[in-house]
Amino acid sequence: MKFRLYLGVVGALLLMASCKDNGGSEVVDVQFVKPSHFPEPVYNFAENEVTTEGFVLGRTLFYDGKLSRDNSISCGSCHQQSAAFTHHGHDLSHGIDDQLGSRNAPPVMNLAWQSTFFWDGGVHDLDLFSLAPIENPVEMDEKLDVVLEKLRNDPRYPPLFNAAFGTPEISTGRLLKALSQFMLMCVSADSDYDRMLLGTGPDLSTEAMAGMETFNQKCASCHSGVLFTDYSFRNNGLNRAFNQDAGRERITLNPEDRFKFKVPSLRNVARTGPYMHDGRYYNLEAVLNYYASGMVDQENLDPLLRKSDGTPGIDLSANEKENIIAFLKTLSDEQFIRNPELAEQ
Ligand code: HEC
Ligand code: HEC
Repeated sequence: MKFRLYLGVVGALLLMASCKDNGGSEVVDVQFVKPSHFPEPVYNFAENEVTTEGFVLGRTLFYDGKLSRDNSISCGSCHQQSAAFTHHGHDLSHGIDDQLGSRNAPPVMNLAWQSTFFWDGGVHDLDLFSLAPIENPVEMDEKLDVVLEKLRNDPRYPPLFNAAFGTPEISTGRLLKALSQFMLMCVSADSDYDRMLLGTGPDLSTEAMAGMETFNQKCASCHSGVLFTDYSFRNNGLNRAFNQDAGRERITLNPEDRFKFKVPSLRNVARTGPYMHDGRYYNLEAVLNYYASGMVDQENLDPLLRKSDGTPGIDLSANEKENIIAFLKTLSDEQFIRNPELAEQ
């Protein structure tokens, strides 16, 4: 059965129609399909082509607590599908032994278009990324060779690795590539906004349309294009009094990068709260109030966030704020959040 995330109802029908039976269990034909209105992905698929078997292995790993020291925390514990693969309700993520991380979990979404990972862009290669959470002492706190040993001793895994890579050998490279394959398939491109854009769905409400116009004028310089980010690192003027996380400077060691964080995509933003790298805002109203009147002046505040008189902030009336929120809600993608292929099996 074909697995095209963004086709919506049509996709779901295709899926049913081409369902095959394989000794009682479904066979899913997984392939990465670029949504027609998206740019070319930057991920190098030539190095790691997504296959049905690789995806299935990656999904099993993503939801397996064995990747953590006490077998209790999986990737899916902090990246929950119902919250667009973020950690629902947590400002800072909770990991092993109930320890608190220092940042808010971003969505695992549209990663094929992303070339830096983490809020500060500390990792450049998706195929190396998963080492970080596995070995992070406040996330999964497990040594990679122990993970590999646990998987070798679990009768489910050698056949899954065999199906995905041709031999049952369980290696770091294969583990990482399989996790990438699952994450690459977490494509969100089928919201009401997309359907409006493609002419396959109803028009947006008057409020949302007005909100889109204001958004394009006042927000899209950074949250740009169909991915709603230009993937740059910027200081958007948050109050640093209670959180001194230096952001991008921790990676580049360049003081000019202090307090710069990656511009996040706003797809599914109604589902991914709390907001900002430290989860300081619990709802979109608070975020809009912040942009309008909560910004704190700083030396390297992004110039786009200064008004013509030099003061920080974006002029937004109460009505404009409401309309922008109505627009942001049209970026929610139910297909993505409910797709059973992306859920724990
Ligand atoms: C304890 C919670 C927790 C666990 C477990 C966890 N993550 Fe994360 N994840 C986070 C947080 C928090 C961040 C952001 C950290 C930062 O930016 O410094 C993050 C960031 C990411 C990102 C970067 C997204 C982006 O847009 O930059 C990816 C991809 C990701 N995690 C995948 C995984 C995978 C795969 C696993 C399992 C191997 C995993 N995570 C386990 C909390 C978690
Ligand atoms: C100068 C670039 C810039 C502009 C303009 C901008 N933002 Fe942002 N936005 C950012 C950055 C950078 C972050 C992340 C900051 C952080 O977490 O430290 C962010 C974070 C957000 C978040 C939190 C998302 C999440 O997942 O946590 C929302 C929501 C948001 N912006 C909405 C808007 C809206 C609405 C506008 C227009 C009124 C706007 N932004 C204008 C750069 C910008």
